[in-house]
Amino acid sequence: MMYPNGGGYANAGLSSMEMAAVEWLDGFYSLEHLLCARMWVMKLCPEAPLEVRFAALVHDSERHFPGGPSSTPSNGFDDPDYLFAHSTRSADFVEEWLRNRSPALDNGFIQRVRRLVLRHEIGGGWDADFVQAADSLSFLETLDWLTVDWVRSGRYTIEQAREKLDFTVERIRPSVAIAAALPLYERAVRTLESAHDTTIDLQKRREIASSRRLLLGLPLGPEESKAPIR
Ligand SMILES: [Fe+2]
Repeated sequence: MMYPNGGGYANAGLSSMEMAAVEWLDGFYSLEHLLCARMWVMKLCPEAPLEVRFAALVHDSERHFPGGPSSTPSNGFDDPDYLFAHSTRSADFVEEWLRNRSPALDNGFIQRVRRLVLRHEIGGGWDADFVQAADSLSFLETLDWLTVDWVRSGRYTIEQAREKLDFTVERIRPSVAIAAALPLYERAVRTLESAHDTTIDLQKRREIASSRRLLLGLPLGPEESKAPIR
């Protein structure tokens, strides 16, 4: 495959509303992370209702839009001021998007999605615990390159970035998700610890992680590079 990390969601079976949300968030460096979180919630909890799947898909949406709190806080990753500001802003964006796109959409659905997005960092209730776990698993699986980027750019030391990986794995509650997270955590730690030596092309990795077309295996637009990554 030309794009080893691309096209992985070509068979994701997105509903029309989910596809529209992916279009809304096209270009967001966490788009791959969002698609992966949705996949994890379906794997962990195949019977989960639509709002759980949809909340997983849009839970970090606010980071795509300028003006939010820094996603690299200086008070630690478990800082409630940051986590609550991020979750509330995401829930507001998602609610506004849903109401604008589908004025006749069931208000109960919107409220259930809103509650899950608000709780995606802290869990609480079986459904929010699964969204939080899916977020965590997806971070470990798809955003290890971001921790390398933090180190390479001087934002954090390796030890400080490691705290994000520790925080991410330690907050998981469902035992089935803890078991799934451990090998991903070990791999992410190895990637981070090689931050100064790795040959990851961070720019290309970010391009793939952000591109709806690359992730869904759609025909490429003129703006997308056709060079393979390593
Ligand atoms: Fe997330």
